This record gives sequence, C-alpha cells and structure tokens, in this order.
Amino acid sequence: MSYRYHHPKSSEITPESIYQQRRQWLQSAAVLGAAWALKIPAAQAAGLGARIRAPHPQTYRLNEPWTPYEDVTGYNNYYEFGLDKGDPKAQAGQLVTDPWSVRIGGLCHRPGQYALEDLVSPYALEDRVYRFRCVEAWSMVIPWLGFPLADLIKRAQPAASARYISLTTLQRPEQMPGQRSIDLHWPYREGLRLDEAMHPLSFIALGLYGRPLLAQNGAPLRLVVPWKYGFKSIKSIVAIDFLEQMPISTWARMAPSEYGFYANVNPHVDHPRWSQARERRLPNGLFSPHWQPTLMFNGYAQEVAELYRGMDLRRYF
Ligand code: MTE
Repeated sequence: MSYRYHHPKSSEITPESIYQQRRQWLQSAAVLGAAWALKIPAAQAAGLGARIRAPHPQTYRLNEPWTPYEDVTGYNNYYEFGLDKGDPKAQAGQLVTDPWSVRIGGLCHRPGQYALEDLVSPYALEDRVYRFRCVEAWSMVIPWLGFPLADLIKRAQPAASARYISLTTLQRPEQMPGQRSIDLHWPYREGLRLDEAMHPLSFIALGLYGRPLLAQNGAPLRLVVPWKYGFKSIKSIVAIDFLEQMPISTWARMAPSEYGFYANVNPHVDHPRWSQARERRLPNGLFSPHWQPTLMFNGYAQEVAELYRGMDLRRYF
C-alpha cells in the first residue's frame, strides 16, 4: 500500500460542523472513510479497508465540543520550530516528512529501520476524540486518526527484560530552526513505562480532523497519551527503543524539579511555578476565558488509575 501525505490548503479544510456529520458517515462506512481521510486512492483502500476496526468504546469518543481545526493547528508547542505558540505553524512548512522511517531498537526481537509505509500498513486506523491537556494549563479536544501504540509494540516483540520505551524526535537543524537557536537537549526525547505504552488509550496519531497531520502537529507520526501532560506526546518520531532502565526525557533532564517522568495530569500536584487545578479550554479569549477544573488523569482515571496503584503520585509526578 502506498501512503502519501497530502498537506491541505486552508480552502480544503472541512468546517467542523460538516466534518462532524461526515464522521458519523465515516463510522458506518469506515472503508471509504479511511480512504477519504488519508487521501488514499480507492483501489488501494480495499486492502486497508479490510482492516478497519469495529466502533470503539465510549472513552475514545468523548462527548465534548471539539477545538476548532485552526486552533489545533495554529497554537502549539513544537520547540524545534520556535518558542512562541504561533512559531510551529509559521516555521514547520519547510519540514520534509516524506520519505520517513522509524528505527526500532533496544530490547526487542524485531529491531530494524522501518519505512513509514511498512509501519502503518498492517494496522487498522481508528478515529478517536481525546482531551489534550498541556502542562501550561491550556487544553483542547482533538479528533485524532491513528492506531494504538500497543499494535506497534507487539509487532516489535519486546524482550522479557524490557520495562520502558523511549521515543525520539527527528534531529534536522537545517529544517528545524529551533534546534539551531534554542538551548534544549536535542533531539527531543520522551518515555513511557511499557505497561503505560501498552495501555489501549496510548495512541500513534497520523492525522487529525480526518486529515494527515500537518508538520506543526508532529507529522508524519506522533504519540498521544491523553491522561498525561501534553509534553509526553512526542512529535515526528524517528526512533523507538525498548529499555530496562527508565529513560530520561528531555524536560526531566532540563528541569527535573518541574517535569517528572510520569507527568500524569493531576489537579492536586501543582507545577512549582503555577497551579494545575484548572485549565483554559481553547479557543478562549479575554471575555470568554473558558476556565474549567482539571480532572484527575485528565478525566481518564477509570481507565488508567490502576496503573499507578500504591504509588505516591506527589513523589512520582
Ligand atoms: N514534541 C517535540 N518533538 N517537540 C516539542 O517541543 N512539545 C510538546 C509535545 N510534543 C513538543 C513535542 C508539548 S509541550 C505539547 S503541549 C504538545 O507537543 C503540543 O502538541 P499539539 O501540537 O498537539 O498541541
């Protein structure tokens, strides 16, 4: 199957209301829906369509208004392209994301350099709507398109000794101006405990709003872990390694007292410099600030609290 990225012009972007209607149709005609969503020619979609999954549990659908496409794609953190929230949209257009490959390595039985086509093609694509909570106390609701991280992990066949995964972003300073000007420990790196990574909510996104990811959102593939602060959701992944020891993530390395490895959304544990008790739901403005209380595990406690049973979440923040 060939898998090509189509970067939409703004005139091509479907208004949210129409997309919501279309999405209902997508659920009932998932085969064609996936072809439409990823711009795959109909003939090639037949093979893909056979693998589209059945409807998903309610948790993955979320009955809250979606954050408009313009905000999801125009207000971001992607420090490889600058510090301001508008920088990724302004600067990421120069990033070349095709061809793309991901190196899978460390403690697993199927290491290798996998072309994106080969990583993606065996999987059924799903559309899921998740809450997304940034550590800086803004939040969004985003309809993603992708597949569970667990699918990829199972295919890599981790060794019995593997307890963590680490994920690494592309390092390409010539196309990523922030890597030339910002003093972060490049390349951006994140990690998860293997059981967190295998949890059915952990997701590899290839698209949002039924469109392939734009560069500013982490094209061509990025992680989404909806019960953790947004910085865990690493973008433009080029490597996944299976490890015995806990990896050191970029933010934990930069400021260990501020950014822990776990980074579970927790309204009871403040960031040393600000409260985590509430959040601004985007879009917002001076007269409509849209503050709302932050939920434990970002509202996914029923699904994930068990992963942390017996742990002191103040210590392991
Ligand atoms: N991944 C990389 N490679 N570089 C980054 O700077 N920022 C993180 C995360 N992933 C970041 C990254 C942070 S702080 C947030 S809040 C989210 O990306 C933002 O993702 P979004 O584009 O979905 O809003």
